[in-house]
Amino acid sequence: AYSAKIGPSILSSDLSCLGSECVRMMECGADYLHLDVMDGHFVPNITFGHPMVECLRKSVGQDPFFDMHMMVSRPEQWVKPMAAAGASQYTFHLESTTNPGNLIKEIRESRMKVGLAIKPGTTVEELAPWANQIDMALVMTVEPGFGGQKFMDDMMSKVSWLRSQFPSLDIEVDGGVGPDTIHKCAEAGANMIVSGSAVIGSDDPRSVIALLRTAVAE
Ligand code: DX5
Ligand code: ZN
Repeated sequence: AYSAKIGPSILSSDLSCLGSECVRMMECGADYLHLDVMDGHFVPNITFGHPMVECLRKSVGQDPFFDMHMMVSRPEQWVKPMAAAGASQYTFHLESTTNPGNLIKEIRESRMKVGLAIKPGTTVEELAPWANQIDMALVMTVEPGFGGQKFMDDMMSKVSWLRSQFPSLDIEVDGGVGPDTIHKCAEAGANMIVSGSAVIGSDDPRSVIALLRTAVAE
């Protein structure tokens, strides 16, 4: 009921070339782009916000799907600006809001898809009550904040549980995912695969993207 999609994270690319990096990833066969927004408060790092997203949308054209990974303390604040900038999906953290239901409603009213993320310390049972109202669940496989960290194997039980309970839900994994760890993700039932350094740092991103997709589609 779901398909395998690969979404490079451009966090570990040369940030002065984000537009051309996004274009390059699409040319290398990416299914979507995973864009990491950090506010220096929810996570100890800062990246970019909606003005950058608006520029990226102009660089890549209307088609590519932008999955906004909102690692910010006040996710309510950026729903409308991100929609106006050309975001396709708004993925917020369960830990960042006291009213997920209202936020889900606001995201839908802004005509974006809804993603709900959990950090490694948050249980999947806390996400479950919202699963029927969202388009995608994001199970973080590192502590959010930085690219290039080590994949946390013990998050896979969250993915398999979600897959068993919600057979048609899109389930994304993010953090330390690459050729060495993709098989665990695929086996657990993840179908939206974020990969940052493994794709961006490769001499041959096209082959890495193809390899990841094959592993999940099997
Ligand atoms: C981490 C970000 C990830 C990160 C993934 O907080 O959410 O999207 O860029 O990078 P890798 O694949 O290098 O762990
Ligand atoms: Zn991310």
